[in-house]
Amino acid sequence: MSISSSLSRLTVYFKRHGFRATVRRFGLAARRTLFSSRMILFYCDLRALSAPTADLPSSLKVERHTNQATLSPQDLQEITSFWNPQQARRNVKERFELGASLWLIKSKDELAGYGWTLQGRTVEPHYFRLGPDDVHLFDFHVFAQYRGRGMNPSLVSYILRSLAAESHGRAFIEAAEWNQAQLASLRRTPFRRLGSARKCTIFGRTIVCSDQNQAAKHKRELKNQSIATTGGKGAGVPGLRA
Ligand SMILES: CC(C)(COP(=O)(O)OP(=O)(O)OC[C@H]1O[C@@H](n2cnc3c(N)ncnc32)[C@H](O)[C@@H]1OP(=O)(O)O)[C@@H](O)C(=O)NCCC(=O)NCCS
Repeated sequence: MSISSSLSRLTVYFKRHGFRATVRRFGLAARRTLFSSRMILFYCDLRALSAPTADLPSSLKVERHTNQATLSPQDLQEITSFWNPQQARRNVKERFELGASLWLIKSKDELAGYGWTLQGRTVEPHYFRLGPDDVHLFDFHVFAQYRGRGMNPSLVSYILRSLAAESHGRAFIEAAEWNQAQLASLRRTPFRRLGSARKCTIFGRTIVCSDQNQAAKHKRELKNQSIATTGGKGAGVPGLRA
């Protein structure tokens, strides 16, 4: 996230929650940046997924949107209103323009959460290059009243199986090491841990530091499974940013 969008997010937080809560939130963000900024990277070989479609409990429904026009104003409002609405709406527009899909999970027709996917590239500089068939999953969110009910694993698993029907590449997702809820949630999906890494962008250049031992181990694993070949020209091997 850029400095300007972090500042604008902080300003919105201040307006909504006041000075004391903002200082606490800022302290938490600073501690996370300084002491637990590592990201845990996960991958899934889409070809290896057995069932072509994912079953969902009858009360749940998943919708995929590839442009903003099909999104109801109410869903758009819910997705963008809980932090910085202006920035969130800009993100939605930018992501659709890049070709991303927005997946909504609904419980009894009420929006419970969402997540994004983008094939062949990432919105922000990533830890490694994706191949044309690879898909990045990012920005997953379950609204507070629906948390702890398996919404996120249901949505992620559904997305992976849907993607497997149309792509033979790999899927990637990452979670901050402090985000125990997301880490616990991903353990209930077909995603497997790939390694860990940190990145920072300075003057437009992204620097990645990965756990080299893990990267080498997983590079071997991916090669053995011939997953790396599906990336084709330009595909990077996780752990090594080109
Ligand atoms: C991370 C997140 C998507 C998980 O969604 P979920 O549908 O609640 O996932 P699960 O039902 O699998 O629960 C995962 C973990 O959340 C935690 N959890 C359970 N109930 C919870 C609640 N009411 N509130 C917060 N966290 C809760 C638990 O640690 C649970 O793991 P456990 O069952 O092994 O104890 C959701 O917490 C969220 O939207 N968080 C804020 C945004 C975020 O961090 N997104 C991920 C990074 S992009």
